[in-house]
Amino acid sequence: MASSPIVELIREKLDIIEIVREYVPSLKRAGRNYKANCPFHNEKTPSFTVNPDKKIFFCFGCSSGGDIFKFVMDIEGLSFPEAVRKLALKAGVEYGDERAHHISPEDKERLDLKKLMTAAAAFYHKALFSPAGEKARLYLGERRLSKTTVEKFELGWAPAGGSAMMEELQAKGWSSDLALKAGLITEREGGRVADTFRGRIMFPIRNQSGETIAFGGRVLDPEGIPKYLNSPETPLFSKRKTLYGLHEALPQIRRTGRLLLLEGYMDVIGAHQHGVDWAVAPLGTNLTLEHSGIIRRYAKDTVVMFDDDRAGIQASVKAAETFMESGLYVRLASLDNGLDPDEYLNEHGREEFEKKLAAAADPLDFRMNLFFKNKPSPTAQEKAQAIALLLETVARQGDEILKSEWVKNLATRFGVEQDSVLKQLRKTALALPREAPRKQAPPLAMPQMEKGYIQLLLRDPALIEQSSALEPEDFSSPLARTLFAALRALPPEARPKAPAALAQQYPEHSSLVLELAVTDLGGPDASAGRDAAGAVRMLKRFSAERRLKELKALPSMDPQQLQEYSRLMLELKSSVKDR
Ligand code: CTP
Ligand code: MN
Repeated sequence: MASSPIVELIREKLDIIEIVREYVPSLKRAGRNYKANCPFHNEKTPSFTVNPDKKIFFCFGCSSGGDIFKFVMDIEGLSFPEAVRKLALKAGVEYGDERAHHISPEDKERLDLKKLMTAAAAFYHKALFSPAGEKARLYLGERRLSKTTVEKFELGWAPAGGSAMMEELQAKGWSSDLALKAGLITEREGGRVADTFRGRIMFPIRNQSGETIAFGGRVLDPEGIPKYLNSPETPLFSKRKTLYGLHEALPQIRRTGRLLLLEGYMDVIGAHQHGVDWAVAPLGTNLTLEHSGIIRRYAKDTVVMFDDDRAGIQASVKAAETFMESGLYVRLASLDNGLDPDEYLNEHGREEFEKKLAAAADPLDFRMNLFFKNKPSPTAQEKAQAIALLLETVARQGDEILKSEWVKNLATRFGVEQDSVLKQLRKTALALPREAPRKQAPPLAMPQMEKGYIQLLLRDPALIEQSSALEPEDFSSPLARTLFAALRALPPEARPKAPAALAQQYPEHSSLVLELAVTDLGGPDASAGRDAAGAVRMLKRFSAERRLKELKALPSMDPQQLQEYSRLMLELKSSVKDR
């Protein structure tokens, strides 16, 4: 991650607060830092900190931290050159061809894979409008998708033959190795390779920035299996972390904080076509903690609406539990008469659909509604069974206030004593598997005084000027020695960016460096110089005391050691007088 002039220029031009705020809208000023709930882990009290002067971020909860590039890499899952390219655009800096810059082989491969995916999407899209794509076009028409929608989502057609796509891509100079890695072609029996997607309607799956990273393909033939085929996991694509439609929905989600989670491709596309353009969907998997982590960044108000069938209802309850686990409060909505959102919108229109969204219930109410719909007058035993199941949802609720609200609601609706619900809840909670405790950062082996001084320097690197009396050896901790030496070695013009520079130079210590740099020391800044001078004297004294102790422990001293001993004794006396 060596810094090039262009990288420095981009860093100079951009305001880290502005960039971070695009992803973390809740960022608020707190002293000289800005704070918010961390986008990288789940928390309720803000420990994610951004320092605008040093242009760094650090989370005291999960120890993630770094500069503006690291932030964009982590939050968007980009490689360094990708993040640079993205930020160059925002900074209005000419980045040019990435070949001109140094990039690692892995990063190069990711860039190539993206270009290949873009080429593949164009191929499928073109095929849809070719004579061979006629059936597919008719099908999309039957599904009432407009031309605009087909263009917006760049839907396509994978020809039914064996390897039409591979042949065309190879003719354009793409290697089959790369196509294999991208999952576009697959090795078949006998070592032959052929197109992975054949005879399918193609849905390009995009990342948050709108780049195609995978495909989903739906069969045309109702007998064909599987109905949907997704790209395999590749260096670009992880199903667990991807939400279909997020790129298209983000502007609206950012505006309103609303997000609608649907079950599938066609639902998302149909929703957007009807103007419900805050809809996204997982990709044929259960909702993962990674998904809810992404959603938590952008949405304050999430509604889950899955198909109105048994599987859909079960999946939406499960999704709600995953959301709850990551501290996110969501509501569940359902449609009636067994329709998918896509079908419902086509039949009843947006207004009716939005009514269903407005009627979304919290997960407990949702489940109680379902139960009483099926069993309007349950027996005592049916009630007990239902309550036992519902309490598993209640027990997962991390918010104690909501939890006690839920207990009340449950007791009221089932007409039972709140006390017995509470007793039962305790039993349920005990039976639930416990979450693994979060890993704690290892304790730092730096004496408080040394840490405090390094921190002063990181916060105000100009103070290094006043450190001439100190040598790295004056620190007892090897880490403090390293950091001090590195700080002193920085050329004066690099000092303002000392924390970012050190974090880059010593990735293994970057958390500590960034943490120290953003931690509020308390007390007015004016005292920093005095504190630093005091700290230098103290460190010098501690160092002298340590050395004296060593010398005293020797069985005998040679003349040189004796000289050192007297000098240190003198120094100590005068340093005590100074104070
Ligand atoms: N899915 C999948 N593999 C399957 C079936 C479904 O990955 N064999 C995923 C797809 O992402 C799909 C979602 O699960 O979009 C919902 O499945 P389903 O309800 O069967 O599909 P629909 O969205 O209803 O698709 P369509 O309306 O085209 O039938
Ligand atoms: Mn459907």
